[in-house]
Amino acid sequence: MSAQRCDELRLTGSGGANRVMEAELKRLVMRSPFDIRLGPPKREGEETLLYPFDARVAWVAACHHRTSSRISWDLCSSPAVRLEPLFADLLPALSADERLADGKHLRFSVELGSSSDFEASPLQLRGVVKNAIVEALASRGIASDVDSEAPDVVFVVRRAGMPDARRTVVGIDVGGGARHRRGARVAAGLAPLRETLASQLIMLSRWDARTEPLVDPMAGSATIPIEAAGLAVGAAIRHPADLPLRHLAAFRDLPTDTPDLFPGTVAKIVALDADAELIPAMVGNLRAAGLTGPAYDQSIVIGQQDVRELTPDHIERLLPAVRDMRPGVFCFNPPYGVRIGGEHGEAELMGLYADIGRALGRFSGWRAACFVANPRFVYAFGHRATLTKPASNANLRGTFLVFQL
Ligand SMILES: C[S@@+](CC[C@H](N)C(=O)[O-])C[C@H]1O[C@@H](n2cnc3c(N)ncnc32)[C@H](O)[C@@H]1O
Repeated sequence: MSAQRCDELRLTGSGGANRVMEAELKRLVMRSPFDIRLGPPKREGEETLLYPFDARVAWVAACHHRTSSRISWDLCSSPAVRLEPLFADLLPALSADERLADGKHLRFSVELGSSSDFEASPLQLRGVVKNAIVEALASRGIASDVDSEAPDVVFVVRRAGMPDARRTVVGIDVGGGARHRRGARVAAGLAPLRETLASQLIMLSRWDARTEPLVDPMAGSATIPIEAAGLAVGAAIRHPADLPLRHLAAFRDLPTDTPDLFPGTVAKIVALDADAELIPAMVGNLRAAGLTGPAYDQSIVIGQQDVRELTPDHIERLLPAVRDMRPGVFCFNPPYGVRIGGEHGEAELMGLYADIGRALGRFSGWRAACFVANPRFVYAFGHRATLTKPASNANLRGTFLVFQL
């Protein structure tokens, strides 16, 4: 048998997310209820971190980690790239695996990660892995049903590893599926930023929520302000009851609730947009995220404002506490221009970028961090970037930029 038992926690993010994912997990684990020292992870390319599996670290990551796209627990791997050898490898490995599940019955589904270098169709690959799991569970006395609507446990199969050592890896999704789905957004603007990218942007800005205000001057559906509020207090994005943890013995004694990891931080956040029609969407999304009400009156404010007219006075009027704080941070993603289009549209867009640069220039001592998918932004914006980091997510390629104003 050439299957190998694995025991690793796999965090996958958008292209280039490794460092930020690592920094975030370290910060969260330090503030978690557990006394753990997190060693450095192994890296697979630019977007995957592998930690030796520890159920407590997996719990912290699954409940709180905001910058990863998927979190799974690798159980075994095989070099096989064809169906029969893969089945022959997986069946004994999984049958001998005491970590698969607890109980007498399991409903499960199988999801596919990247599998382009597997020599059969994705559907066939998934089918073979399902069969191997059904038989392995049966051999352990566990009856099972494949149920992709309401599975107890989601298994994941993917081709993974560095180019010279690729393997077919089977694991369990412990992160509750695609993690940019936070479950809170009720209305989206025209081009909402993925939550995972929004939290990366905020991490890259090095925002200190205790001493600096954060302003999104083009907030759309308020994705960035909502992520900022969550990052500030270390709020969970998944509840343990919604994760497969109760079906897995490794997680049995871990907490069932998720208090904030940085309680008591009162962040100062301003969400602005020029488009009046977006204000109700922002309010709805903040409410859905539990960020409205008297407790947030002096903490998160929304306003209709054209960024070109924005001055420090405006911000102080909206949020007077800013006067006693250090200079703040702008976090935003400007329009990319895909919808404006054409030569005229491009000129208009460059004009807007230049105007944003001039407006933010009034905020001496502040930092600005943005995610842009238009390569001409930096030139038009007119400030020198202190950090430039390419990023990709789904079919969107862009760049994180940080400026000292
Ligand atoms: C790419 S979207 C931002 C998406 C947002 N981050 C989200 O996740 O929903 C750009 C936003 O800029 C706003 N905008 C365009 N021109 C503006 C201006 N001059 N001042 C302020 N906001 C502007 C648009 O209304 C739009 O909501």
